[in-house]
Amino acid sequence: MYNSFYNQKYDFKEITYSKSFPNLHKYPAAMLPQIGIEILNELNIKNGKLLDPYCGSGSSFISALESNIYNFEGYDYNPLAILICKVKFTKIDINMLIKEYNLIKNKINSKNYFDSVKDKLYDYIPTFKNMEYWYSENVKIKLALLKCIISDIKNNDNIKDFILLTFLETVRTFSYTRNNEFKLYRIKNEDIISFNEDVNSYFLTRLMNNIEFYKNYYYKYFNDKINAAFYNEAFSNKEKKFNVVLTSPPYGDSKTTVAYGQFSFFANLWLGNNDARKIDNMLMGGKNKKQLLNDSIISEQIYNINKIDKKRALEVSSFYIDLRDSIKIVSNSILDGGYAIYIVGNRIVKNEYLNTDKFIAESFERENLKHLFTYKRIISNKRMPLKNSPTNKKGSLSNTMTEEFIVVLRKS
Ligand SMILES: C[S@@+](CC[C@H](N)C(=O)[O-])C[C@H]1O[C@@H](n2cnc3c(N)ncnc32)[C@H](O)[C@@H]1O
Repeated sequence: MYNSFYNQKYDFKEITYSKSFPNLHKYPAAMLPQIGIEILNELNIKNGKLLDPYCGSGSSFISALESNIYNFEGYDYNPLAILICKVKFTKIDINMLIKEYNLIKNKINSKNYFDSVKDKLYDYIPTFKNMEYWYSENVKIKLALLKCIISDIKNNDNIKDFILLTFLETVRTFSYTRNNEFKLYRIKNEDIISFNEDVNSYFLTRLMNNIEFYKNYYYKYFNDKINAAFYNEAFSNKEKKFNVVLTSPPYGDSKTTVAYGQFSFFANLWLGNNDARKIDNMLMGGKNKKQLLNDSIISEQIYNINKIDKKRALEVSSFYIDLRDSIKIVSNSILDGGYAIYIVGNRIVKNEYLNTDKFIAESFERENLKHLFTYKRIISNKRMPLKNSPTNKKGSLSNTMTEEFIVVLRKS
């Protein structure tokens, strides 16, 4: 049932996200926009309204724009994800942006400016009890100065958001987090001693790079037809209707797969989000249900997990129950003749292979969509942990995410 077949065309072997569409802020498990472009083209979808209910940094909207689809909406629980989308897909005046860049540069280097704001700088540092564990005093003050300068930008919220996004990359880079991890792990003590604290040069260089990326890769898309909206919430609106849903949902709960909330913790904290710590619990599978999922294509695997680890089985079930509930709402919003395209990876828990692709197909078919086909592709470039312990035992590793599935359904 719901078998997949390998389609080499979708491997995009030598193509990396960063080369073809450089992101304005790092984001975990971002989808390769080429997949969306190719599948929209294959299905001959060239207009209409597109929904991404778990939009992350918005790769599906690049696929949409490349396919001349200008009407789209994105939803994500993570505030950082929504800010990235807003900045990427909002038209701003590049000359004004460069003017603002120069003003900021002057303020950063001005002793007079520093003296005029120094008494209020502590107000810009988020209150978080472990702040000293993650930032040196020197870095905190430099970041506070940048935040103060950005807060001073008046009358242009879009330019302010653009600059804020670079600031958020800066707050992560200059925290003591290990940069190549999604989860919050502190760097070693010996690395703290030699920690680079040149916040200002990093920020200014990164801001100029982002302006270049925006100008060279994103600006070309803007025309009068664009009608885009992004919401920092789960998709729940039954009244809205779409021609196509193109998305890459999470492939498991944040605690044991990709920790979107932890990855974005410092960004969301400096954005002023008091619930930054709780985001992973609010994402799919973040809250444990009390019952096992017993009526699905993966129930046998869940029973097998339950035989050896009841808690784990409930955690896994909770994710799939949330995913199914969400698919129910999404299905409702697809117009007759419309498509659902889900790009997802499967995982192994306690040696049980979980066919999330088949689960997605099954959940949509319950809502009267028809499964058209599922393609399999080999992943070569995704920013995610390729190795995971299927038994959760230290040292026991196996490849789990080398394949990805493109599940296509249609409402008729
Ligand atoms: C695989 S990522 C999407 C990546 C995106 N396609 C990109 O290219 O950046 C999955 C996203 O789902 C979001 N998410 C998880 N549970 C959610 C929920 N219940 N409602 C909305 N978004 C959710 C996460 O915050 C994450 O950004």
